[in-house]
Amino acid sequence: MKTNIILMGPPGAGKGTQAKLIIQEFNLPHISTGDMFREAMKNATPLGLKAKSYIDQGHLVPDDVTIGIVEERLAQDDCKGGFLLDGFPRTIPQAEALDKMMAKMHRKIDLVIDVETPKEELIRRISGRRVCKSCGAPYHVDTMKPKVDGVCDICGGPLMQRKDDNVEALEVRLNHYEHETKPLLDYYKEAGNLVTLDGSKGKDLLFVEVKELIRGER
Ligand code: AP5
Repeated sequence: MKTNIILMGPPGAGKGTQAKLIIQEFNLPHISTGDMFREAMKNATPLGLKAKSYIDQGHLVPDDVTIGIVEERLAQDDCKGGFLLDGFPRTIPQAEALDKMMAKMHRKIDLVIDVETPKEELIRRISGRRVCKSCGAPYHVDTMKPKVDGVCDICGGPLMQRKDDNVEALEVRLNHYEHETKPLLDYYKEAGNLVTLDGSKGKDLLFVEVKELIRGER
């Protein structure tokens, strides 16, 4: 089984949705830099206040800040048996820093799953996304509705729209993805551990492929 895993893809590709399924099935710690920043913003910590000015407008949080929080998180005990990185790395300097962290721990990334989804579908998903205010679980107003309107199926928390889920911020996020994150696909292709999946499939069909990859069955 692959245990040191990165989930990549543009905003709205379905990384968070697959991540929730993966951690339930494989019991890996979910390290989402976006979730970590949103938690810090909710608690108005110094990290949250700093990140907010970038995130609300769709910009990337500076590398030094992002690398620092991931390094601290990966050093925790629950990551010893593996981890699922979601939304990190997003730039070449972040990928290089991650390689150094892995080398220090005598480990290596064994699978990079890239979920690719067409732009029109990303816009549709992001504009209709609702997330749980308490646990962050994602829903969609048309295609992934909760059982009870406005209420999270998992924890019963209220659903809300993310502040960066608007057309202006999405354009900025897609632009960062195109110019800063996409070059990482070549970086991991060269490393030999990149697999690209079609994210326009339904979440359950996509998860069948994701499971096979993690189990090393394909
Ligand atoms: P982050 O939280 O990582 O956001 P993102 O990458 O923009 O991705 P999203 O959360 O928007 O989408 P997703 O792919 O998880 O899709 P989801 O599953 O929710 O980062 C937020 C911000 O933090 C960044 O913009 C940046 O500012 C900062 N940041 C984070 N990491 C950073 C880093 N490393 N460096 C610098 N800055 C960083 O699905 C979307 C919608 O589609 C949902 O409504 C869902 O229900 C629906 N859906 C999902 N899958 C399917 C499917 N298969 N079929 C139909 N609908 C689906």
